Order: sequence, then C-alpha cells, then structure tokens
Amino acid sequence: MRYGWLSGFLLLCFGKLALAQLRYSIAEEGRVGSVVGNVAKDLGLDISTLVDRRYRIVSGTNHALFNLNLNNGVLYVEKKIDREELCETTACVINLKVLVENPLEIHYVAVEITDVNDHYPTFPDTEQHLEISEHIPPGTRFQIHAARDPDAGIHAVRVYRLSANDIFDIDVTDSEEDKIPFLVLKKPLDREDKAEHALVLTALDGGNPFKSGKLNLTITVLDTNDNRPIFSQDTYTVSLVENAPVGTLVVTLNATDVDLGLNSEIEYSFGKTQKKKVLDTFSLDSITGEIRVKGTVDFEDTETYRLGLQASDRGQPPWTAEGRVIIKIKDVNDNKPDIEITSLSNVVPEDLKPGSVIALISVTDRDTGVNGKVNCQISQQVPFDLTPSIQENIYSLVVKGQLDRELKSDYDITITATDCGQPPLSTVTSLSIRISDVNDNAPTFSRSPIELYLVENNIPGASIFSVSAFDIDLNENAAISYRILRGDGPKNEMSSFLNINNDDGQILAVKSFDFESLKSFQFKVVAMDSGTPPRSGNVTVNAFILDQNDNAPVILYPLSSNGTAEGMEEVPRNVPAGHLVTKVRAYDADLGYNGWLLVLTTGSYVTTVSLVWTAILDG
Ligand SMILES: *[C@@H]1O[C@H](CO)[C@@H](O)[C@H](O)[C@H]1NC(C)=O
Ligand SMILES: *[C@@H]1O[C@H](CO)[C@@H](O)[C@H](O)[C@H]1NC(C)=O
Ligand SMILES: *[C@@H]1O[C@H](CO)[C@@H](O)[C@H](O)[C@H]1NC(C)=O
Ligand SMILES: *[C@@H]1O[C@H](CO)[C@@H](O)[C@H](O)[C@H]1NC(C)=O
Repeated sequence: MRYGWLSGFLLLCFGKLALAQLRYSIAEEGRVGSVVGNVAKDLGLDISTLVDRRYRIVSGTNHALFNLNLNNGVLYVEKKIDREELCETTACVINLKVLVENPLEIHYVAVEITDVNDHYPTFPDTEQHLEISEHIPPGTRFQIHAARDPDAGIHAVRVYRLSANDIFDIDVTDSEEDKIPFLVLKKPLDREDKAEHALVLTALDGGNPFKSGKLNLTITVLDTNDNRPIFSQDTYTVSLVENAPVGTLVVTLNATDVDLGLNSEIEYSFGKTQKKKVLDTFSLDSITGEIRVKGTVDFEDTETYRLGLQASDRGQPPWTAEGRVIIKIKDVNDNKPDIEITSLSNVVPEDLKPGSVIALISVTDRDTGVNGKVNCQISQQVPFDLTPSIQENIYSLVVKGQLDRELKSDYDITITATDCGQPPLSTVTSLSIRISDVNDNAPTFSRSPIELYLVENNIPGASIFSVSAFDIDLNENAAISYRILRGDGPKNEMSSFLNINNDDGQILAVKSFDFESLKSFQFKVVAMDSGTPPRSGNVTVNAFILDQNDNAPVILYPLSSNGTAEGMEEVPRNVPAGHLVTKVRAYDADLGYNGWLLVLTTGSYVTTVSLVWTAILDG
C-alpha cells in the first residue's frame, strides 16, 4: 500500500520528468537476454549494493518483458517483443519503474521499441472479383481492397503496382491511415475482344528490402448488346428436289451474334414482304433456323423460290440482320407427256395416197431436260405412221400403205408418248379413223357363166329366172341395176324376148319357148352400180330349153285307108314262130321319154290272126 501511494505521488510530481530520466531504444523482435542498457550504471548506483538494496522493476505496463541483472545492473529483454502486438500507434514506448531500497529510490526508465520491417503488406483476401459492363466510360474508378501492413512508418504500405495492361490503371487515395487503391478504366472495354481480365495488384512497403503482398484481380466484362447478328452466308443457295415430302430439311440458317446471353440469342423470321407462296410452301423454325418443306413443291409451278429472312437478337433493343435464301427446285419426271391431236378428218377415203397427212400430233411434257424429251410411237400393224415435222414435238399422222375399206373400215390407232425420264412416263391416246367408201369394186355375180334350164311352153310374161350380183362397196357404190345386154348377131337375137327388172334381176320371157324349135340360147346380164363413175360386171347366161311331152306319136306305117293306123296283113299258114308279119313305124316330135314309143297289141287267133294295136304311147 505504501509503495502504491508513493508511486502515485511520484508520478504526480515527476510524471514528465520521469519519462525523460532514462531512455533506451531497442528494436522489436530482439533476442531474449539481449541487453537494453545498464540502468544501474546509468543511474550512478553502486553495483555491489544492488542485491542488498533489492534492485528491481516494480511496475509499468508490460514490465514482464524486461528484467534486471542484479550482478551487473543491466536491463535485458526477458521475453520476445512484438512491437505491433504491444502498440497500436506508431510510437511504442514502454515505461518501467526501477526501485532500490535503503534508501528508497524510484527511477523511471523508458524503453522505446523501434519497428522492424517484419510484416508483409497483406490484402484481406487473396483475390477480388469485379464485374464491369462494357459500356462503362473510361475514367470510371472502382475501389479495391486495401492492403495492410502493421509495421510502422516507412515499413507500412507505401505503393501499389498493377500488372502491365492496356486497359486499367491504379490510383491511390490517402485516407487517414491507409492508402486506398482504386482501379481506373483507361480505355473502353470490349467484351467481345476480351471477356475477362486477370490482373495482379501488388502492395509494397517502404522497407529495405521491401516486402510485398499480392491481390489477384479478376475483372469480368459484362455484355451489352453492341453487336448485330451476322448470317454465316449473305445468300444461301440450295437446291431441292420437287415433290419433296413435307418436313424435308431444306437448309439450316446460321446467324451468330458475338454478344452474350439474350444479346446473342437469335430468333429467325421471314422478311416482312415475304410472298404468300413462300409462306405456304416453307416453314421456318425461329429457334433452330431450319427451313423445311411445308407444302407442295412443284417445279412446274415455281422453279426458284427467293426467301427474305431476318435474324434478330433478344437484346434490348434488339439488333437485326437480313439474309436471303434461294431455293432452286430440281425437276423430277412427275408429269406424263400430253398428247394433243388435231384431226384434219376423222373419215378418210380409202383411195388416199400413201404419205397423205390426216392428223397433227403435238406432244408436250411439263417437265424439263430429259424429262421433256418425248418419244412418240404408234400402234403396230396399222397402215398409218408418225413422221416428225420441222417443229419439235409435232408429228404428222400419215397414210403408210394402201387403204381398203372393204378389208378394214375402222381403225383405232394407239399413240404412245414416252418421255426419257427415269423412270419414263407414258401417255396413251387413241384415235379412231373411219375409212370412207370409194367405188373401187364392180358388182360380181356369184358364178359365171350361168346355166339356165327352162321348160318349154312357159307362160309368156312370167318370170323365168332371177340373177343377182353383189358389190362389196357401200351405198350407191353398191346399188346395182341390171340390164340385159342386147347385142347384135344371131346368138343374141333371143334376148329380145327377155325383159329384166332393173332392180331385182327378175327375168321375164315375153314368148313361150318351144323346145322343138329352139333348144338353147345365150345372153348376157350386166350389173352396174350407181357410183361415180359406175362400175359394172356381166354374166353370161346359157339357157337350155327343156322338152315337154307336148307331141303325140304319129304312125307312119301301116296306115288304113281313112288314114288311121290300121292294116291287114296276110300271113301264110304254119309259119314258124318268129315270122315277120309287119313293121310298125311311128314318129314322135318330143325328146327322150316323150319320144320313146311303146306298141300295145290286142288280138285273137281265128282263121285270121287279127293283130290290132290299140295305141302307140310315147314317154
Ligand atoms: C493469382 O494469379 C496467379 C497468376 O496470375 C496464379 O498463379 C495464382 O495462383 C493466383 N492466386 C490465387 C490465390 O488465385
Ligand atoms: C454456325 O456458325 C458458327 C460460326 O460460323 C459455327 O461455329 C457453328 O457451329 C454454326 N452452327 C451450326 C448449327 O452450324
Ligand atoms: C363382160 O365382162 C368381161 C370380163 O369381166 C369383160 O371383159 C367384158 O368387156 C364385159 N362385157 C361387157 C359387154 O360389159
Ligand atoms: C276307118 O276304117 C275302119 C275299117 O276300115 C273303121 O273301122 C273306122 O271306123 C274308120 N274310121 C273313121 C274315122 O271313119
């Protein structure tokens, strides 16, 4: 207690003085046991009395850091001293009270701990990440973590250095205690050029040699929509086979935008002025850029489609780009040839000369290339042919051989047009030709000459016979009229007794024929058609008169006195059998049986043999 009061008193009286009584200076971090100074000697104390006078440190902040050697009076370091631990401020002085008794003396000793550059500048973190948008103007400052160095004075942080780069600079603001670094943008950022900048900030203290600490700075450049989309090609030229099924991929557009995120997300669309036909035929996937077949692709309808397209990013506001797609449709052999027949006449006369043109055949094909090329064929075995004309794909249908209506009057001609596509397509058309009649045939009689057997005593004016001729032509060319050829000469004189029906060939005899006076005669019948000029045929008729039993036999011998065939013959007695009595002679004008005579006898044996023939009969 006593000492406590005393020390309080002395502090009051000598406070200021005491600080200045003895003053030493040592560097921090000194070796334990290292000498600070000889306090006893400096105070003028007798070294030999120190033990008896109980030479000691009695109080003072952190007095345990030091100790006194009673043998030589030296103040030495008892514990390792860390200046930065002891003192917050730059100046670091430790005040000690050294006491000796008998008589009691208190001495004030100040030990200044001097700084040693034993600390490195350190950043609160090893790395710092910044995000800076690319539209930020140059000159803008960004605060960076400050480095700290607990060392004092020049051993504290003195400068900051930034790794070499074109874009950023470092600027330091001195605050009360710290130097606060700012990153300054020197040039505009371009994310598309460099999206991330890795810098190293070094903080250095002023020691010699200096100590340093590093901070890794990562600057991520944030995107702004400062780039427009770009199509991979200005114009996409593709070919597409016609009739391609719905869903067929035609082309995939590819527009890219070097920006990031939404600013680089592309949306495709058809141009505003797109034709409806294009919209009906093709679809566009706004995300993938795929153009696919949606409708009917017909080469014959449209050979080339031109599509205007737009690619737009999703930035705010968006940027757009224009593109073009040219789709060339490739022809496929999907059309049959068309055959058009211009008939000059459906009915041609049979006497038309070979080579005469009867129809024009025009053949077309809507396809192109070899798919247009058409070959034409005509059915075999008709007397017609196709001959090419000067004009391509126009053929003449001509008569090839001799026509004959009587042989064949109607033709169905098949015309086949085949294109050269793969596979080839054909069209078949038929054309009916009727052959009209020409008077090229004369009437003919079925047989010639005709043998006509005619019984005598015919009734005059009655039909005796009928002739018939036939003409294979048609209509008036086949309409026949008959006449009897009345010529001169004895052979033909009988014909004057004959009449013929012009129309039906019935022949009448105006006279009754008598076999006994005329046995045969000959005449000709002419059949003539009504064609222009007319044609005729004739037949010779050999007429034979047939006998009728129209004459009675006449007995020429023996004749009675009144002319009857009655006679008396004298026959001698006893004549042997076989004795010729008489000969009967008779005559009959008729022919054949009609002229054959039979003698019928009746009689009786009396004294006279009376032989009476009652009749002579003819056939
Ligand atoms: C800091 O960057 C350097 C290269 O510049 C690298 O080697 C080091 O590992 C980085 N340190 C940290 C903590 O990321
Ligand atoms: C689009 O084009 C870019 C660059 O030309 C390329 O890297 C990318 O692979 C293309 N995308 C497609 C889907 O072809
Ligand atoms: C009768 O026909 C023959 C042969 O067909 C012909 O030669 C003759 O001139 C014809 N006679 C008459 C008078 O028509
Ligand atoms: C002819 O004479 C015979 C006998 O002399 C007689 O029987 C017959 O009646 C006579 N005929 C005629 C027609 O007078």
